[in-house]
Amino acid sequence: MKRKLFVTTALPYANGSFHIGHIMEYIQADIWVRFQRMHGHTVHFVCADDAHGAPIMLKAEAEGVTPQQLVARIGAERKQYLDGFHIGFDNWHSTESPENTELSQDIYRKLRAAGLTYTKPVEQFYDPVKGMFLADRYIKGECPKCGAKDQYGDACENCSSVYSPTDLKNPYSTLSGAAPELKTSEHYFFRLSDPRCVAFLREWTGNDRLQSQVANKAKEWLEGKEDKALGDWDISRDAPYFGIPIPDAPGKYFYVWLDAPIGYLASFKNYCAKTGIDFAAFLADPQTEQIHFIGKDIIYFHTLFWPAMLKFAGYKIPNRVYVHGFITVSGLKMSKSRGTGISPLRYLEIGMNAEWLRYYIAAKLNANVEDLDFNPEDFIARVNSDLIGKYINIASRCAGFIAKRFDGKLLGQEDGNAFVTEMQDAAPMIAELYDAREFGKALREIMLLADKANVFVDINKPWEIAKTGRPVDLHRTCTDALQMFRLLTLYLKPVVPVLARGVEAFLNIPELKWPDAGVLMPAGHAINKYQHLMGRVEEKQLDALFDLPAAAPAKEPQKMSNTSKLGSQSQSPAIPAASTPHPASPGPAAPSAAAATISIDDFAKIDLRIAKIVKAEQVEGADKLLKLTLDIGSEQRTVFAGIKSAYDPATLEGRLTVMVANLAPRKMKFGLSQGMVLAASGDVQGAGGNAAGIYLLSPDSGAQPGMKVK
Ligand code: MSP
Ligand code: ZN
Repeated sequence: MKRKLFVTTALPYANGSFHIGHIMEYIQADIWVRFQRMHGHTVHFVCADDAHGAPIMLKAEAEGVTPQQLVARIGAERKQYLDGFHIGFDNWHSTESPENTELSQDIYRKLRAAGLTYTKPVEQFYDPVKGMFLADRYIKGECPKCGAKDQYGDACENCSSVYSPTDLKNPYSTLSGAAPELKTSEHYFFRLSDPRCVAFLREWTGNDRLQSQVANKAKEWLEGKEDKALGDWDISRDAPYFGIPIPDAPGKYFYVWLDAPIGYLASFKNYCAKTGIDFAAFLADPQTEQIHFIGKDIIYFHTLFWPAMLKFAGYKIPNRVYVHGFITVSGLKMSKSRGTGISPLRYLEIGMNAEWLRYYIAAKLNANVEDLDFNPEDFIARVNSDLIGKYINIASRCAGFIAKRFDGKLLGQEDGNAFVTEMQDAAPMIAELYDAREFGKALREIMLLADKANVFVDINKPWEIAKTGRPVDLHRTCTDALQMFRLLTLYLKPVVPVLARGVEAFLNIPELKWPDAGVLMPAGHAINKYQHLMGRVEEKQLDALFDLPAAAPAKEPQKMSNTSKLGSQSQSPAIPAASTPHPASPGPAAPSAAAATISIDDFAKIDLRIAKIVKAEQVEGADKLLKLTLDIGSEQRTVFAGIKSAYDPATLEGRLTVMVANLAPRKMKFGLSQGMVLAASGDVQGAGGNAAGIYLLSPDSGAQPGMKVK
């Protein structure tokens, strides 16, 4: 039975380039799609740019271009990544498109006709200077609990209390700095709380369509925690907004998350028009399976809003939502501003093989919502020992004899070979693993088979029989090894499609399909000359990969290993220039070259203040610490500073210095340390000779406690 599949990956926001997280998602889906295609199933695999929303509008404005121009520029970048990593989407489109406008408005009209939309006034902050309503992330102010400045509208980073933006004291718009005003406007809502929706979603989320972790989450939201029932969904935004106009509602636009998933359909529709497929008929076919690959952060939208919207607008509902975890790099979360340790484009530019990454990611993926770590050493080991050492080696050890001794022709399979048969018999088990997205398990099974193929070659020692003159045995051994190599290639093909194409050319065989596991190359089949198929990863390539040009402008004097360099990049940005006698890092730090560059936004996160040392005390039982009481205008702080070796406490009282005021408080043996003072240290051979020691910073005279240092 042939399957009919409509497969998507999440639509990336069009305000930035792809990062490794996007590429990971595409690799996962692409492997699955290629696997289905090897069975002859029909698969339409599409994606698009998620073009709408305030951040894109504001970014375009800041760059002095229209949002459409920004989206077009980012859109034009996509191909090099997708081609580079062999991601075989059938179509790439945009949510800013006629198809998406038409579909979104149609879905909305149908929901309205079903009585599932309504309007109600909503009071919200408004920026009178920008002339727009402000999403929570554009509002900051003072924490209503502790008074900390520059806190976001949802929670305080200083005291961790949670509140809503209207609770902030002295709120300001991060866009203009203006004090926002509360203003009311009419918003459009999707009635998710309608009993029809709730009943449908109970059925839909409880129906084996979702991974159990995902189904549990969805149910939790659906049933509401405590007495918080599922709320209705605000689907409108007021002009100015970059989005799709809501029919019969001048000045109102669909909230980006309404039209974003509809972009899946828009991209498919656009593809159908180009290729002559009947869009409506394909989706109306009960056989058709609609499958969305997404990351764990957008489950809510895909398991509640999206199926309900489709259902009550009379569209096909998704059959499956496949959720993956996040990729981290050497255990670190990706940061938007710093990017990750890996730039996908740099990976390609420095000539690293895209299929190494595909293989590595596949080897670490399973069907659960689990994060996956890219670890440089692990990467080198897996690629070199598995892909090259176990798999490629089989061909390189045996192909030469066939070419030189047997005119490039293979022997027949009369007597059968248990190794070959076992490998053929594994096809259904491996297929099941691929279909279930258990790629890591599939590759483990394949590598176990590769191990056995190598055992077979080791037992039969073609290089020895070649010397002892037993041509039939030599022919037999090399033929069987190449039969196994072909089967392994078939099994690996969804993961390494370009390598597989190279093997098909070398073995002189047609494109491998899954059922080909049942047959072998016939007697007398002529193969082509073996050519180098894939090289090993070299450590220096990983060094180059992590040596991001943007992150390391100055040549680093000491060459560090991949892992330690990554570590230092990730940990250093807090206070790059002055070394810091914070209790967390006792003693002066070793001298070092300038740290990796950070953005101005990164720097702005550090709240540096002029502090007056009102009291300095010895700490009983501490060899390095002094206890400082600091006045920063609005409040007093206690800081334990590792400066005892350099200062007599009495000389410190009354002087001014600089402190990091927003460092997370740290519980120490001697009490709570609420920040850190800045001091210079380290061995630097300067004009004035060697001046090891610790030197507390002081401002010029006139500075007052509490002043911001920037
Ligand atoms: N535009 C929305 C999705 C709309 S779908 C109708 C969006 N875009 S995104 O660019 O932020 O994320 C796109 C996809 O990348 C999401 O599935 C997200 O989970 C995934 N990833 C983002 N960071 C990731 C990792 N670090 N690792 C793996 N996938 C990650 O959300
Ligand atoms: Zn607070």
